[in-house]
Amino acid sequence: MTNVRTDGQRKRVFIRTYGCQMNVYDSDRMADVLRPLGYALADGPEQADLVVLNSCHIREHASEKVYSELGRLRDAKVQRRTEGGDLTIAVAGCVAQAEGTEIVRRQPAVDIVVGPQAYHRLPELLAAAERKASIRRAGKRLPGAGVLDTDFPPESKFDHLPAPQGVRAGSAFLSIQEGCDKFCTFCVVPYTRGAEYSRPVSAVLAEARQLLAAGAIEITLLGQNVNAYHGEAPPDSKRGSTWSLARLIRALAEIDGVARIRYTTSHPRDMDDDLIAVHGEVPQLMPYLHLPVQSGSDRILEAMNRRHGRDLFLRLVDRLRSVQSELALSSDFIVGFPGESDADFDETMRLIDEVGFASAFSFKYSRRPGTPGSAMPDQVPEAVKAARLAALQALLAKQARAFNASKVGATVPVLFAEPGRKPGQIVGKTPWLQSVYADGDPRLIGRILDVRLTEGHANSLAGEIAGRLCEAAA
Ligand code: 5AD
Ligand code: SF4
Repeated sequence: MTNVRTDGQRKRVFIRTYGCQMNVYDSDRMADVLRPLGYALADGPEQADLVVLNSCHIREHASEKVYSELGRLRDAKVQRRTEGGDLTIAVAGCVAQAEGTEIVRRQPAVDIVVGPQAYHRLPELLAAAERKASIRRAGKRLPGAGVLDTDFPPESKFDHLPAPQGVRAGSAFLSIQEGCDKFCTFCVVPYTRGAEYSRPVSAVLAEARQLLAAGAIEITLLGQNVNAYHGEAPPDSKRGSTWSLARLIRALAEIDGVARIRYTTSHPRDMDDDLIAVHGEVPQLMPYLHLPVQSGSDRILEAMNRRHGRDLFLRLVDRLRSVQSELALSSDFIVGFPGESDADFDETMRLIDEVGFASAFSFKYSRRPGTPGSAMPDQVPEAVKAARLAALQALLAKQARAFNASKVGATVPVLFAEPGRKPGQIVGKTPWLQSVYADGDPRLIGRILDVRLTEGHANSLAGEIAGRLCEAAA
């Protein structure tokens, strides 16, 4: 494989990421795998020799979005070839996993299809794509288009990925767990990401140390079902052969330089006593929890195969708040799951009223092929779903505004992450994951500073960096 283009420039890769934080993490790791092959990051597909679409399959029409983007990339590829150049197109992520060869059949311009478990094989796949391209350039017939790797390999991709490089603005993601064994009846994750797998504790702690050395002060532990974590204990561990998430968080908090810890996404059934206790014990663990409940109706939760009822969720919330009174709660909701009646939906609205969420994600149920929900009777009409979603989102938006407003006047630590939209502005996050805009020097990005919150809005707050001391602290 050539790392340098014929014009002497380094090769460039553009990675477009769709979907969740897990995909953001995977995109960073793909960049890490490609860097030793001479690929620098491009700002857009126009400047790239290789475009990777890191796709997400959870939303309806997700794959259609990928296909329309692929159509545009095909046109760009044709154009490049008329100019004597080329463009390599790769599809990664859950659509790649779910659709496999179908992608290359529908869009033959695609060179590589790679599932989430096989990113460490990107160099081989690129080499194979390059071999095919040189056969084509020599005017020979191609031995079938596309190069495919969507296996769930027996060895873990984590063992093969290089050490992470990029820490953005003090905040880093660390993937500790993948896959899911829960099989909620609406969800594709158990099919696209495979069975639950937890990385060994020593690998996780080693990666955390690398991230800290690279400038991270906040670490967000990631997993599709992160609180089901049960990683192999380190060799010197005295108790038990595996560690829970609670134990991992305690160990992480002991490492010098860890200012903030977060974890996402959790399942109510896996919120054990120890994990709840950690919320009251570990000061670096931020007072924020994303805990999807999906519905407030026991009947619907049962049909969703969620393995928990409304009461279990409400009891968890009470117990979490009793150890951490400041806790901000976030959740996911689905409206219009098959069979959901007005009374079921009212139960969800009542649950929201009872809990009071700081933020939330909410969706109309969408049929995902191959999941049990898609074949259930009593699919809810689109108009009913739309009306329920609007009512639910209005309530959640009111709660989010109230939560933001409740912090106005307080001075809170904000981790600045990026420049704001207006010149001279920077944006950061409070412990409760609210976005805060303040006037400040971009050199403060990546630091935690005290900010006096002055205005609360629907999705953000405005604030003033407290005093001049911060310049010295920077
Ligand atoms: N329809 C609607 N929402 C879904 N989600 C997952 N699958 C579906 C589906 N088929 C939502 C759930 C999940 C979040 C990541 O996406 O709320 O928690
Ligand atoms: Fe999907 Fe989450 Fe249910 Fe697993 S627990 S099947 S990832 S919704």
